[in-house]
Amino acid sequence: MIKPQLIEGTTVNGLGKDIAERFFNMNRNTKFENSWHFMSAFDPEVKGLGKRESAVCERALVDLKRIAGKVARLSQRTLPAQPGRHDGLFLYFADFGKVWLSTEFIWFGQRRVSDDPAAPSRSYLKIEEAYRAFGCEPESGESVCDLGAAPGGWSYSAAKRGARVTAVDNGELKAGAKGNANITRLAADAFTFVPDKKYDWLFCDMVEHPNMVTKLLEKWIKNKWSRKFIVNLKFGRVDPIQLLEKLNSPELILKKRCLKFGIKHLYHDRDEITVFGILE
Ligand SMILES: C[S@@+](CC[C@H](N)C(=O)[O-])C[C@H]1O[C@@H](n2cnc3c(N)ncnc32)[C@H](O)[C@@H]1O
Repeated sequence: MIKPQLIEGTTVNGLGKDIAERFFNMNRNTKFENSWHFMSAFDPEVKGLGKRESAVCERALVDLKRIAGKVARLSQRTLPAQPGRHDGLFLYFADFGKVWLSTEFIWFGQRRVSDDPAAPSRSYLKIEEAYRAFGCEPESGESVCDLGAAPGGWSYSAAKRGARVTAVDNGELKAGAKGNANITRLAADAFTFVPDKKYDWLFCDMVEHPNMVTKLLEKWIKNKWSRKFIVNLKFGRVDPIQLLEKLNSPELILKKRCLKFGIKHLYHDRDEITVFGILE
């Protein structure tokens, strides 16, 4: 991976010009025959940075047209069709005068999903996105145990597909999950809950320490209580990099026991990551 370069400047024109020149110089030996992606993002914590991002990108493109018209005309500002590594121009605005430039980027296949007015929570969008991201979703007739289910976005999404859901939570289900014929609510603690049958799916989206939730997931895997899982881990209280290293480490049985295993920070995830697996 080529190291991103930092570009610093105080004005929109200055930054735009530097970006165009740096990009051109980095690609002196590249033959541009096909379209390439021009992508940008900004730190959402810095107020007003979005406007600056748009203005600088526009300026950079104007300057690139001046230096290398054909190259600029082949640029496209749309998302790649496929997730993975892509060549192009990627800018990350860390602050008003600080922009990171990379000529390679990895796109994780972010897909916006449409909301459902009957969905009881915005968490519904997370699970819908997870199905697309991992390429697997509950099917009609499958069974789902949803730990920490309330107010019921995840349960509702599985029930919509005709799955039968056991929703474990002391909290109440709401909107489309409440009174849903495919959902049975159990008021219980997820950590002591012992299922009386094997489920097709384990769902888990609890605001609990990620180490405790990971241990719970391992318990489910060891006991073969479900064949597939989607679990959300909130990293607010721990270092996310250490959490990722732990999830990928051989000391946990997660990867070892899974035929398919994936971890993603979804578009709809906040300080949390989503873990998916299909067991052997
Ligand atoms: C973020 S919400 C879940 C949202 C849900 N996935 C949805 O789509 O609406 C977290 C839920 O976890 C539940 N919870 C936290 N700790 C729990 C535990 N030990 N046992 C059962 N539920 C728990 C909370 O009551 C809360 O309803």
